[in-house]
Amino acid sequence: MKYVIGIDVGTSGTKTVLFDEKGKVIASATVEYPMSQPQNGWAEQDPADWWNASAKTAKTVIGKSGVDPCDIAGVGISGQMHGLVMLDENNEVLRPSIIWCDQRTGEECEDIERLIGGRDQLIRITANPALTGFTASKIMWVKKHEPEIYAKCRHILLPKDYIRFMLTGEYATEVSDASGMQLLDVPGRCWSDELLAALDIDKSLLGKVYESPEITGRVTEKASALTGLAVGTPVVGGAGDNAAAAVGMGVVSDGRAFTTIGTSGVVFAHTDGITVDPKGRVHTFCCAVPGAWHVMGVTQAAGLSLQWFRNNFCAPEVEEAAKQGVDPYKIMDAEAADSPIGANRLLYMPYLMGERTPHLDPKVRGGFVGLSGMHKRGDLIRAVMEGVSYSLKDCLGVLGSMGVELDDMRICGGGGKSPFWRQMLADVYGIPVTRIESDEGPALGVAILAMVGAGIYPSVREACDAIVRQKDVTPCDAERNARYGQFYKVYTSLYPHLKADFDALAEL
Ligand code: XUL
Repeated sequence: MKYVIGIDVGTSGTKTVLFDEKGKVIASATVEYPMSQPQNGWAEQDPADWWNASAKTAKTVIGKSGVDPCDIAGVGISGQMHGLVMLDENNEVLRPSIIWCDQRTGEECEDIERLIGGRDQLIRITANPALTGFTASKIMWVKKHEPEIYAKCRHILLPKDYIRFMLTGEYATEVSDASGMQLLDVPGRCWSDELLAALDIDKSLLGKVYESPEITGRVTEKASALTGLAVGTPVVGGAGDNAAAAVGMGVVSDGRAFTTIGTSGVVFAHTDGITVDPKGRVHTFCCAVPGAWHVMGVTQAAGLSLQWFRNNFCAPEVEEAAKQGVDPYKIMDAEAADSPIGANRLLYMPYLMGERTPHLDPKVRGGFVGLSGMHKRGDLIRAVMEGVSYSLKDCLGVLGSMGVELDDMRICGGGGKSPFWRQMLADVYGIPVTRIESDEGPALGVAILAMVGAGIYPSVREACDAIVRQKDVTPCDAERNARYGQFYKVYTSLYPHLKADFDALAEL
């Protein structure tokens, strides 16, 4: 029996899972780390935290499984997309990573569209408008605000590609994550010389671009000592966390889609051909199936909204959970379930970190609208979950308006584990949502890519057919769907009403 390892460098922590070649979990380990927000709208992490967590979790899973490292046929790496890691000539990290949910780069986005000759031109090359979340604007920000750091920069890597570098010594990336840098010619699946010239970014700073299942390097002696992996173990391209989750959920052909509620929330649909939203409200990226693409809408603060609420306002629930030995979210779910649909006429806007789909607005912020003296904490919890679900429905609506046809909506991520939230999502969407047997999403996805890279399966689709199984379907209830629809209608009118106020607030 052969084994593979999937490493998922997430925002709240890194999870490493050892699978056998049938996709069965043999051992798993997670190490958490902080995100710092030095200013309102900024978000940074320390790449050393990612590497320490990756090395430690790899060592732990290999140790506790008892598997001979020589039987590990490959490693796949997945991770939070878009984060900027800059290395100097000695491969030292030059500054904390500016990560995906950082919103400081509004001006740089305007610069990028101007330098390339307009938004349409940028969409023609990168399939997307300039966004604060994407890496290009972060690079331009460092160039403008920290020129002394930019001058020392010799390598630019994404979060998971920094882990690849630490494992193999190679400066490389793959098409799915590179799509989110906004320097890739997304239709052509290679760096865009035209764009790099317009932004004056030296191509030698960027890694080599692979397709996701290709072998990009092998574990070095130094990395072997720190991780327990055998020297020479192949490391495949892997994928950005959403493209990786798609593989782990079998979303690898037309008509298939999934929703994930992690720190961010994503509605993702596979497309064999390339489809672009002319308004740029959803992203078009290369996917981990060679030669195919995907479209996805993003809610910036999905699980993050509920985590923020738990951390700041749910001390009693956290205490009760500790007493019962359960997850605090379980207690919070039960309280939310006591509140009716619409949370007693309370709406939540989940824009804690600005918003991408459908507003593309770094300045908007969150809010509760409709607060009354009668509201209890359970109403607020329910409103948060409903607001995130409405935002995901916005994503689904944009995909629908682009003519992307979906006949199968799967669900994963922390939020997808809650039966209460799953039912809410099916009812808000008005379609059934399907769970698959494995909860491992991105880690399984990149493990499957490693299996393909190592020759255990001939293609990503065939590997998914052999490994991914449906678990259950949560049906949608028509009456509840109609009731949610009434609140959703009011929800969608909040942003246009408040936009000017958020712009004014951002200037104070
Ligand atoms: C996708 C995105 C997030 C991050 C964090 O564009 O920014 O989903 O990958 O998970």
